[in-house]
Amino acid sequence: MAVGKSSRHYLGESESVEIQHGGRRRTTSSLDTPYVLVLTPRYILIGIFSLGFAVSFSYFCLSSGSHFQDNASVPTDPVEGVVEEVGQLPFMGYNTWNAYHCEINETLIRETADNVIKLGLADVGYNYVNVDDCYSEKNRSEAGDIIANAERFPSGMRNLTDFIHGLGLKAGIYSDSGWFTCALYPGSFQNEERDARLFNVEWGFDLLKYDNCAVPFDEIIKEGMVGKFTRMSNAIRDLAKETGRAPMLYSLCQWGREEPWLWARELGQAWRSTPDIEDTWRSIAGIINANSFITWANNFYGYNDMDILEVGNGGLNYEESKTHFTAWAFMKSPLLVGTHLATITEETLSILKNKEIIAINQDPVVGTSVTPFRWGVNPDWTSNTTHPAQYWSGKSENGTVFMLINVLDESADMTFNLTESPWMKAGRQYAVRDLWTHTDNGTAVRSFTAKAVPAHGVVALLMKDDGDEPKGTEPPCQREEWCMDKNGTRIDDIGFEPW
Ligand code: GLA
Repeated sequence: MAVGKSSRHYLGESESVEIQHGGRRRTTSSLDTPYVLVLTPRYILIGIFSLGFAVSFSYFCLSSGSHFQDNASVPTDPVEGVVEEVGQLPFMGYNTWNAYHCEINETLIRETADNVIKLGLADVGYNYVNVDDCYSEKNRSEAGDIIANAERFPSGMRNLTDFIHGLGLKAGIYSDSGWFTCALYPGSFQNEERDARLFNVEWGFDLLKYDNCAVPFDEIIKEGMVGKFTRMSNAIRDLAKETGRAPMLYSLCQWGREEPWLWARELGQAWRSTPDIEDTWRSIAGIINANSFITWANNFYGYNDMDILEVGNGGLNYEESKTHFTAWAFMKSPLLVGTHLATITEETLSILKNKEIIAINQDPVVGTSVTPFRWGVNPDWTSNTTHPAQYWSGKSENGTVFMLINVLDESADMTFNLTESPWMKAGRQYAVRDLWTHTDNGTAVRSFTAKAVPAHGVVALLMKDDGDEPKGTEPPCQREEWCMDKNGTRIDDIGFEPW
């Protein structure tokens, strides 16, 4: 399977979504962390229905778990001669652009690769070192090849990738689907096969980021966005067939233009879904907002790329940086470090190396993203670039993962009922793990409150089923709508009358 086709990656998920707001609760315990579990009052109740529900739901979970694994390992569209797949999980690594822009050279990239190892970034999964724009001469050779810039890359690109590979890492390169790159170095339009061969076979790169600048006139290209990016996809695929080696991972970069989440999965393994990131909270919030509406597009072998991380670059405070990193990880974006590694702080490293957060991004069993179940300060489905959705959940190998984002400029308590998330079972209680404090935070029954979440801060939780909730927990149904006793007595007071 060279370049992922969609069919096997859109995995069957058919549970219905229930959303509940409100509910009665009281604080019963205060924990080591700033967050406090809140449990509902317990009344006398016989929970006959909950057991049956739990059993059948457990059965579903067990069978869907194996379903994911089966689908992940069985290609439905193998490319003849290609023995290896790439890009099943969001790729992780380093990219030169955010930290250095065009000021790159081979010494810097070697040092960066060394630091990826020394700082332990490779140990937690960052295994690509990607060279972005500005590595070449401004003109191709007489023979028509892109040439590495003689001043900045005097030892040549093969030397560089040998060095990177020697460290046990992979190497990425950059080009453009038009005449030129965005910094006006040669692009690959009409040279796709030649350049794919140069990058992969001659130079030894394992990944290609492919940009969207210098678009040829319509009368020349006679293609839309899809066709323009298909040209290089075909070149990579054909080359992999020919060589029998793994194809270059193809990372499309057209800033979300023409809805790549609808088609780029057919061509490559990641696609930029939004414009260029900036080192500001405003930019982070805007990217989270835009991507909150297309989380469904993520699954194995194809991911919305929310852009290179800005963690460590100075424009975000500690809380904002954690929110940025959590959102990118949980929304299954590729994770590309984009800061100066020679001067990186312990605080920045502690964010980038949070293994419990990374584990969600790199989940080998569940390829889907977290998705908002409640927007919070805004009505559900509101698009608001400064105040994106606040309450998110998703499936993971080890339980249900929650992401709470305080989009306000002051600290706030954040509360949700457990079964507002479609992945939680009624009638069960959950063990709570905080993925930033790295503490087990007791048991949640019915609801959870995070107290005093800092402005622009995040709470990242993993909730694992911990058995039946206490007998007699009230109200009889956590989700009140249509709650009914087996004798036909309606328990809710919503007031809706049947026909
Ligand atoms: C575009 C891309 C960036 C970066 C620059 C390089 O703006 O979106 O990520 O690659 O080009 O010029």
